Parts: sequence; C-alpha cells; structure tokens
Amino acid sequence: MEQGRVSTAPVLAAADTTIPRHVAIIMDGNGRWAKRRHLPRAAGHKAGVDAVRRVTRAARAMGIEALTLYAFSSENWRRPEEEVGELMKLLRFFIRSDLAELARENVRLRVIGDYRAFSPDLVALIDDAIARTAANSGPLLVIALNYGAQAELAAAARRLAARLPAERIDEAAIEAELDTADLPPLDLVIRTSGEQRLSNFLLWQAAYAELLFVDTLWPDFDAEALADAVAVFGRRQRRYGGL
Ligand code: IPE
Ligand code: IPE
Ligand code: MG
Repeated sequence: MEQGRVSTAPVLAAADTTIPRHVAIIMDGNGRWAKRRHLPRAAGHKAGVDAVRRVTRAARAMGIEALTLYAFSSENWRRPEEEVGELMKLLRFFIRSDLAELARENVRLRVIGDYRAFSPDLVALIDDAIARTAANSGPLLVIALNYGAQAELAAAARRLAARLPAERIDEAAIEAELDTADLPPLDLVIRTSGEQRLSNFLLWQAAYAELLFVDTLWPDFDAEALADAVAVFGRRQRRYGGL
C-alpha cells in the first residue's frame, strides 16, 4: 500500500485509507511457529526478528507515525534462562544489524520499559542507538523492553505522589509520567497468534484503542497482514463514549 494520507485520498475512499497514527503490536507466537516446524524455540524468535524488519519497513511505507513493538515483557523473565539469553542475543543482533538502515530512513528509535535492568553492554548499545536516531524527524519505532504496564503506572504514581498534592493528580498528570508521554495517542493494538489478552501491555494507553486479534503467528506476519489490519481499523467506528 502506498502512503494513504487522508488529506490526499479521494473523499469516498477516506474510510478505507484512514491510517492509524500509532500502532502497537504484541508479537506473539514465535514458539508455536518453531514447534510446528520441529525447530527449537530460538528459531522462532529468529524468524520473529525477520518479521520485525518487514513490518517496520511496511509501517514506514504506509505512513504510520509510531510503531510500538512488544519485544520483552516484565513477566518474560519467568522463561528459562536460556531462552531469555537467546532473546537478549537477538536484540543485540537486531540493533547492530539494523541501526544503520533505521538511521538512514530517518527513524527515531525509542524504548519503553525498564531496559536498564538488562546487562550493561546491552544498555549501552540501546542508549547509543536511541542517541544516534534522536535528531531524526521521521517515524518512531518504539520497542517495549522489560515493559509492564502495571509497573509503568506504579512508577508514575510514585513520582507524582512525591511531587504533587493528591488533588492535582489527574489523568493528564498521569499520562505525562508514562513512558509513552510524547508519543501519538494509541490507535490500534494488534496481537498475533490467536491469544486474546493484553498481557500487561499499554493498559492505560489502550483505553480507547481499537483491538485486533489475528491468528497469524508473528514470524508469518508481513506487509500484507499489516495492510489488512489497517484496513480493518479504517472500517471501525470510534465513538469514545459519544454517539
Ligand atoms: C513471542 O512469542 C515472543 C516473546 C514473548 C518474546 P512467544 O515466545 O511467546 O511464542 P509462543 O506464545 O510460545 O508461541
Ligand atoms: C506477550 O507475550 C509479551 C510479548 C509479546 C513480548 P507472552 O507470550 O509473554 O504472553 P502470555 O504469557 O501468553 O500472556
Ligand atoms: Mg507467547
């Protein structure tokens, strides 16, 4: 799909070409993808990285302003140490292999979540990647690393309580303390692999986001699948409690 900005689209096609500003994806199903092929789970995660590359390119081509990818939840530490290690290795690999392209494509890389709990060399690599794309003006690629919405909200509450009297803690104050404070409002959450839950992802931000659960396993998700999801989004009617 080409850049489908509403402003340039024919009026009658507007409903089909509404591009969400901010899409978040719960990239699930790597393990099952591998299992079906009698491969180790790590092979599924590796194929998942290829999907990340495809989908971030597709999102850029479609004019999506912000793409947030759930890569490692604060609960994923519960997995065997070996698998956690594999995921960290792939994260390192992805940053090393793809940072140049992202920088060239004017992408701004961001991270939400407590990634400082990762090993110091990985933290340094992530910080460097963020710094090297910070002056870009193009789309945002936001990776959720050691992210949990409940921890994010608790941390925001602690900071606000230390700074503000109780009566001044309102929705706007909370929102401004979240990791996502300067991102566009969340429009669409996609979860792959058929699971229908949020798994502690963007709980506050998803208040009025459209939710889409697809059966495709993450390593099979591609540009066409993203275009299909965006088309479904375009047909949804958002009411925000009004009429
Ligand atoms: C998603 O795939 C990747 C991460 C959570 C890091 P899974 O590893 O959860 O795959 P399934 O759910 O076991 O198939
Ligand atoms: C959610 O997937 C986290 C990520 C995609 C990073 P999980 O596979 O960890 O979620 P649950 O455990 O099935 O809820
Ligand atoms: Mg899973």
